[in-house]
Amino acid sequence: MPRVYILGINAHHAGASACLIRDGELIAAAEEERFRRIKYWAGFPRLAIAFCLAEAGITPYELDHVGISRNPNANLLKKVAFALARRPSASMIRQRLANAMQVRNPKAALCEAFELDPKRLRARFHNIEHHRAHMASAFFVSPFPEAAILSVDGMGDFVSTMWGIGRGTQLDVTGEINFPHSLGFVYTAASQWLGFPKYGDEGKVMGLAPYGRPAYLEEFRKIVRVQRDGTFELDLDYFVHHAAGASMTFDEGSPEIEAMYSNKFIDTFGEARRPDAPLTEKHQDVAASLQAMLEEAEFALVRRLQRETGQSALCMAGGVALNSAFNGKILPDTPFTDIYIQPAANDAGTALGVCYYIYHHVLGRPRRYVMTAAYTGPRYRDDEIAQALDRRGLAYDRLDGAGLARRAAQIVAGGDVLGWFQGRMEWGPRALGNRSIIADPRRADMKDILNARIKHREPFRPFAPSVLLEAVGDYFDQTYPDPFMVKVYHVLPEQRAQIPAVTHVDGTGRLQTVDRDANPRYWALIAAFRDLTGVPVVLNTSFNENEPIVCTPDEAIECFLRTRMDALAIEDFLVQK
Ligand SMILES: [Fe+2]
Repeated sequence: MPRVYILGINAHHAGASACLIRDGELIAAAEEERFRRIKYWAGFPRLAIAFCLAEAGITPYELDHVGISRNPNANLLKKVAFALARRPSASMIRQRLANAMQVRNPKAALCEAFELDPKRLRARFHNIEHHRAHMASAFFVSPFPEAAILSVDGMGDFVSTMWGIGRGTQLDVTGEINFPHSLGFVYTAASQWLGFPKYGDEGKVMGLAPYGRPAYLEEFRKIVRVQRDGTFELDLDYFVHHAAGASMTFDEGSPEIEAMYSNKFIDTFGEARRPDAPLTEKHQDVAASLQAMLEEAEFALVRRLQRETGQSALCMAGGVALNSAFNGKILPDTPFTDIYIQPAANDAGTALGVCYYIYHHVLGRPRRYVMTAAYTGPRYRDDEIAQALDRRGLAYDRLDGAGLARRAAQIVAGGDVLGWFQGRMEWGPRALGNRSIIADPRRADMKDILNARIKHREPFRPFAPSVLLEAVGDYFDQTYPDPFMVKVYHVLPEQRAQIPAVTHVDGTGRLQTVDRDANPRYWALIAAFRDLTGVPVVLNTSFNENEPIVCTPDEAIECFLRTRMDALAIEDFLVQK
């Protein structure tokens, strides 16, 4: 049989990205922000596509299918009905139309980006509805033959929430909640009010929530009304996004969002916090209440889905599926006994979803690929790395794998901060041991050291632990593997003093379990650290300084030199300051 090449793209939407599969095998996937060096870059992902094609060794003319994770024709009747009933502003309508024109014709965009002759392209082009792409991204690369699927985010193709069931190569949608009712937008609006206005800032608010008490849960229950059937409705008086349009500036840069909360929101909670103003107990309590409300609404959705499908496995995607605090509660607190969340659960992941939606659901080809590791991005050869180091006149040692793990573990155990750059770059927002900064989790002051020297993050935000898979039960209250750092578990009370730098204020940690087969080099580093210290855990934070995670050796070296990192391991090359 001839080979089938499928390119999936997320374009003209936050987190532009590309993914390429060959006969169902994932060849490459990456976010455009890593190449452009602008966070959540939105536009047409030309560089990510070029990378995917190069990894596959093909030209665009050899692609059989190309899909984009938007379908402007989806829910047209509902959009019209909404426009008639609500009379959205003219600028909102103009913006929507312009965006729809762009996503309607991915063929033209591809031809323009790569200066192609459209007549020579043999690929079939597909518009895949946004939330179907999310759902496909979670289910088709999961290990489950059958599963319930839930996608929750801000909004895509007029839908905020979609659920259904996956069986083999088929994905059936059984329900959805439409714009403007969106849990993602509630979280975004409250985050804006709390003084975190940037796209993607919701994760900071999730980190703030454990400092507060849910004192405003009753107020939030008026804003988000959970229904008897497990769905939810918003009281739109607290918002302006349905009228003003949740306006985002999309193309050629970081997405920017206008304020979504209304005067009634301000009447209820008080004046919004300015981003540079101090955080008070009240802000912490509002964050805690918001998180509690999100969990209440999501539990209702998840439990409904379990009742409706009778499935024991759950696959989740959408931006809200990155709420690791909630995700960690699903297995203990619902009838589901298995869970899968793909590392790029946010919009970037829809590029992957498009590929597998086409391969399985459209073409009916059998499933065989399971995503067990997130390492789908670029990797670099030793001669490229040596040249990059030589260009800056940096002296280095060259070690073998075991020697590097031992030396690196000594550096970390000695209290120094290590840049760790290995193999292929991660897919999704988390660094998972290939573009990571590693430090000693036993030192209570390590969080402040990292913030002062490298990361400059808000002091309330936690750092995450990477733990050997075989030791997870010795340190955490759950043992279900989480290779993608998408769930928060409780650190066992007797171990909290052992790993204070990665234990959050509420005694939890957003862990990564490290499997020897999935990442042998990272496993070897943590195992060497365990041999030295008795602790099979390291602190893992992304390799960057207020920028997208580094992609190339040059970017890693520049970050190393610019910040007060002590050592840098790039493949087998070790540099120490
Ligand atoms: Fe989305």
